[in-house]
Amino acid sequence: MPPPESYELRRGKYSKLDTPVDDDRPTPLRNSFDSNDSSYEDLDEFDPLNYDAGTLKRKRSKGDLRARKSSANDARDAIGEGVIRRERRCTPMKLCCSLVLIFVTTTVLILSAGGIWAWKSAPKDGQSPPWYPTPKGGTDKDWGKSYEKAAELVKQMTLVEKVNVTTGTGWSMQMCVGNTGPVPRLKFPSLCLQDGPLGLRFADNATAFPAGVTVGATWNKDLMYQHGQAHGKEARLKGIHVLLGPCVGPLGRMPAGGRNWEGFGTDPVLQGISAAQTIKGIQDEGVIATIKHFIANEQEHFRQAWRWGPPNAISENLDDRTLHELYAWPFADSVKAGVGSVMCSYNQVNNSYACQNSKLMNGILKDELGFQGFVQSDWLGQRSGVASALAGLDVTMPGDGLKWADGNSLWGPQLTKAVLNGSVPMERLDDMVTRVVAAWYQLGQDDPEKWPLQPPYGDGGPNFSSWTNNKTGLLHPGSTDKSTGVVNKFVNVQGEGDNFHGTLARRIAAEGTVLLKNEDNLLPLDRNGWREDEKLGKEMKYRVGIFGDDARANQKGPNACPDRACNIGTLASGWGSGAVEFPYLVTPLEAIREAFNNETVYVTDWPNNKLPSEQKELVEDQDVCIVFANADAGEGYLADNGIRGDRNDLNLQKGGDALIQQVAKGCGKGKGKTIVIIHTVGPVIMEKFISLAGVKAVLLANLPGQESGNALVDVLFGDVNPSGHLPYTIGKSEDDYGPGSKVLYYPNGIVPQQNFSEGLYIDYRYFDKQNITPRYEFGYGLSYTTFELSDLMITPHGKKFPLPDPRPSGIEPPTYSSEIPDPETALYPAGFRKLSKYIYPYIDSVKGIKKPEQAQTPVPKSPLSPAGGTQGGNPSLYTSMLTVSASITNTGSLTGDAVVQLYVSLSENYKDPETSEAVDFPVRVLRGFEKVHLNAGNGERKTVEFEVTRRDLSYWDVRRQNWVLPTEGKIDIHVCFSSRNCPLSGKW
Ligand code: BGC
Repeated sequence: MPPPESYELRRGKYSKLDTPVDDDRPTPLRNSFDSNDSSYEDLDEFDPLNYDAGTLKRKRSKGDLRARKSSANDARDAIGEGVIRRERRCTPMKLCCSLVLIFVTTTVLILSAGGIWAWKSAPKDGQSPPWYPTPKGGTDKDWGKSYEKAAELVKQMTLVEKVNVTTGTGWSMQMCVGNTGPVPRLKFPSLCLQDGPLGLRFADNATAFPAGVTVGATWNKDLMYQHGQAHGKEARLKGIHVLLGPCVGPLGRMPAGGRNWEGFGTDPVLQGISAAQTIKGIQDEGVIATIKHFIANEQEHFRQAWRWGPPNAISENLDDRTLHELYAWPFADSVKAGVGSVMCSYNQVNNSYACQNSKLMNGILKDELGFQGFVQSDWLGQRSGVASALAGLDVTMPGDGLKWADGNSLWGPQLTKAVLNGSVPMERLDDMVTRVVAAWYQLGQDDPEKWPLQPPYGDGGPNFSSWTNNKTGLLHPGSTDKSTGVVNKFVNVQGEGDNFHGTLARRIAAEGTVLLKNEDNLLPLDRNGWREDEKLGKEMKYRVGIFGDDARANQKGPNACPDRACNIGTLASGWGSGAVEFPYLVTPLEAIREAFNNETVYVTDWPNNKLPSEQKELVEDQDVCIVFANADAGEGYLADNGIRGDRNDLNLQKGGDALIQQVAKGCGKGKGKTIVIIHTVGPVIMEKFISLAGVKAVLLANLPGQESGNALVDVLFGDVNPSGHLPYTIGKSEDDYGPGSKVLYYPNGIVPQQNFSEGLYIDYRYFDKQNITPRYEFGYGLSYTTFELSDLMITPHGKKFPLPDPRPSGIEPPTYSSEIPDPETALYPAGFRKLSKYIYPYIDSVKGIKKPEQAQTPVPKSPLSPAGGTQGGNPSLYTSMLTVSASITNTGSLTGDAVVQLYVSLSENYKDPETSEAVDFPVRVLRGFEKVHLNAGNGERKTVEFEVTRRDLSYWDVRRQNWVLPTEGKIDIHVCFSSRNCPLSGKW
């Protein structure tokens, strides 16, 4: 189906034409700064200072006019006609002069007020320390062979060929959301980059997997890997070289953050392990995974310049220790897993754009974490040309410059010029390209069996189009070029038989469903209705009522809204670039209806959030009521129902609370049993219904993907014993998450500032520190059986010593000639047919390009981090310091899976032995988890083991710039069922 007319190609197949934020909320901000041509009148509305000035202006004008009118009349009465004539002649002019004067004065006032405000609120330079020059790729022996091959290829490339590899060809110029330029002469292809992480965006015949947050809620490492592998396989079969996932930034600092659902949960270890498993799965299929968004991409509001008003993106300000122990941690795990690409984020960090922040890209990522792949920008996240190259950016996406789809790249020809005139050293460009080519070799993408050669040598390349659902279509829809061809081959990549990915999606969705409450063991339900123990004297059919809009299908289909940005029918995904086209969506309503035996069970449904007041029996006649409610959010370039990406609060949406209350109170005239099912992008406040007598069971089904209904039925009827655990805390109120948990909805300066002043204390760490009892804590989840933990053993592997071993030196990276070629070689070849807006590496003229006359003074080298050395950091950080083991026994009557969680508490009242400064530690932090399958019956028992590494037991010492293991005092080790339920504890 072609996209409906009101949508254009801007964001793929179904994107809206106009600024895609909805307008049903009073939004002076958006109007004031939404475009470059916003007027100062708009500014009036936007800033309190200016607003007063504006009001004053209007009042004064009216007042002045009235005063002038009356004085003219008085004059007419008092001094006669002549004066009156004079008045007549003068009044319009005077009036005019006064108006002009008032206007000018007001404008000056507004400008000065605005100027003072802007000046005062503008951040100071130097908040993010410089780190130069960019460390070269090719220093890790695990990538040695790939770098050797890459260097051989890159040595043969000309300047423009090299630039072509670094620059996207422009939005919707080729089939994928991002496409790099090829080097056909050397058979190096155009790389296709496509979202991730829920499945393959804009692709047909592909699986809509459960979202990251659901994968995280499984706490099952094996499933995480399988999910990655299936995702990777689908990507490869569609010709996608680089998958834009997984996502670990946002980490979830703000529970209302719009994109938290793309990641795995609000904890660095849960995110890190989940990401590493996913990456291994994807990359074992030969597809380059991208870990994103580096870094602190915690909220959608103001993530980009202009879109939300202010001319600059938000700055997320965090200290070095918080950076290391929270936000960078999962990136370290991803690099350690060998990830091929990292995407830098839109936002600024410490007032420097993440995609031109040298401390982050050069310092943290490439030096300290030893990242060997390439850094790509988020789409238009690049905000400078030379600066971003020097700060460590390797690839710009989608290639266009500061504005969407304008074809004016900050690189492309500009990078060619920058190299020719010496602004970007040849050495840096060589490293940029080598990193891309090495990643390509590292993942085996030079194998023509798996990756057929692209034209003119073969017919390889992506076999789907992001821009049309038709078989044939424009080859370069972003340009005015009208060439067409076959763009969709409709390759079915969903797997078959035992390998059908829908089965895996169902398993993940079921295992990612968290049982929060199960009073009187209402669950699992019986397909025949009455359970054995309830049957006595019950002749009637068992009556089940299903309520809520979230149970049913969207009548217009699951893909009706652009990038899933609407909350109609059952919620199976959030919205944005992380969402995909559903090949199908099994709704809870159809699956539950089908599951019950209709000989013995009578099912009624009212899939609406408003109960009909005239038909009370609808609820009152039921033995069991299953009520659905949800909460949605997504990426900020789209909005729905007043939600501009980030949620506006943590409540259930669309009247969910009221519906649950009514159902729970009315069900079976107060004697019925209510089961609440929640689909959500993150935590929701449950206080309005959780303690109601009728609410017997609550299942949090997260975002289950295409197999939603089937997976829910599996859990409801006990075919799958629930084993999901919360990947975040559910608080009793929004404020319980602390002041640092709040999205900044209104700008607080010309560069909006978010200060992460809570430091390490987010989610459960905050609740624990403040001693706030949550409704359900991080890591919590029930089962239909019971488990017991026993026999804790802590086996140290040596003595405590504070610092890791010295950083090992890596292998030598490739070297190239640094000679700058003749600018003439970079000119467009004669007779070259340019497509409009397509981004090429060539330059139009050599005018004004001067070769640097002398070698530039070398930039002083930043010191190497002692925490670096290999992928993921100093290998000594990953050596096991302790083996912790415990026994887990199934003490109930059903087979089930237990999630055993390992937490550590670093020494209390700890003082740095060198400085005697107090170092504060969270009450406890997650450091590992295992899922264990245990049969029922004879009480199966297994042993779980955790290797606890040096990094797990260390804190980041800002002064030493290294991980330090506290050697004074004792470290507590806890083996737990959740962050607050730790039956076993010991000390080291
Ligand atoms: C998102 C990225 C995504 C990219 C390409 C951006 O808006 O932030 O996560 O990969 O678009 O679709």
